[in-house]
Amino acid sequence: MDAREMKIKAAAAALAHVESGMRLGIGTGSTAEEFVRLLAEKVAGGFRVEGVPTSERTARLCVELGVPLKSLDELPALDLTIDGADELDAGLRLIKGGGGALLREKIVAAASERMIVIADESKLVDMLGAFALPIEVNPFGLVSTRIAIEKVAARLGLSGELALRQSGDGEFTTDGGHHIIDASFGRIPDAEALSSELNSIPGVVEHGLFINMAALAIIAGPAGVRTLQTNR
Ligand code: A5P
Repeated sequence: MDAREMKIKAAAAALAHVESGMRLGIGTGSTAEEFVRLLAEKVAGGFRVEGVPTSERTARLCVELGVPLKSLDELPALDLTIDGADELDAGLRLIKGGGGALLREKIVAAASERMIVIADESKLVDMLGAFALPIEVNPFGLVSTRIAIEKVAARLGLSGELALRQSGDGEFTTDGGHHIIDASFGRIPDAEALSSELNSIPGVVEHGLFINMAALAIIAGPAGVRTLQTNR
């Protein structure tokens, strides 16, 4: 089974959790896009959902495939969000934002009763951090914000390159008009502490650590699909 087939398997298993009439947060990335394709087939067959996309990219795909969309302001409370992840651990802590949509992804997940993560098994790790942590920052005062992130990291015993994400000829800009610093810490032994320290830096808009948000992870591997869950 190749990576795409695993993503499709995880997406299909997540679809079983979606009931007709649900208000659905719809994630971003290649795994979430497989979910959108399967959802669109069900919608074409008469299944009713209203989706809130977590990015302009996901919105475009939903429109193209006929998945009905609303804004989060129109549907401020959602039943379920289904999204991918760049890394997850056994405690369902996630790193997200590889696709640059972490702010809207976190806002939408927080507005949802439940979040289900879908991933192929390459995303499951013993400890978060091999994937560079995306940190969304305001363009104003970028140098100061970067220094503040370095100080927080040093206090927590973390080090590694802080790379301003590039796209084409310039800095990558998120749907919200911000930039992203990808922090290559290698290992993040205390994700909770790092999360709260990063949240205390004014120039940090949001970061890609999703803690206590996902209730269930559906992980597909060559041997099949398995789930990880918490009490949330
Ligand atoms: C988008 O910003 C990310 O959080 C994605 O959910 C994450 O990068 C997973 O993407 P893939 O499914 O493409 O690996």
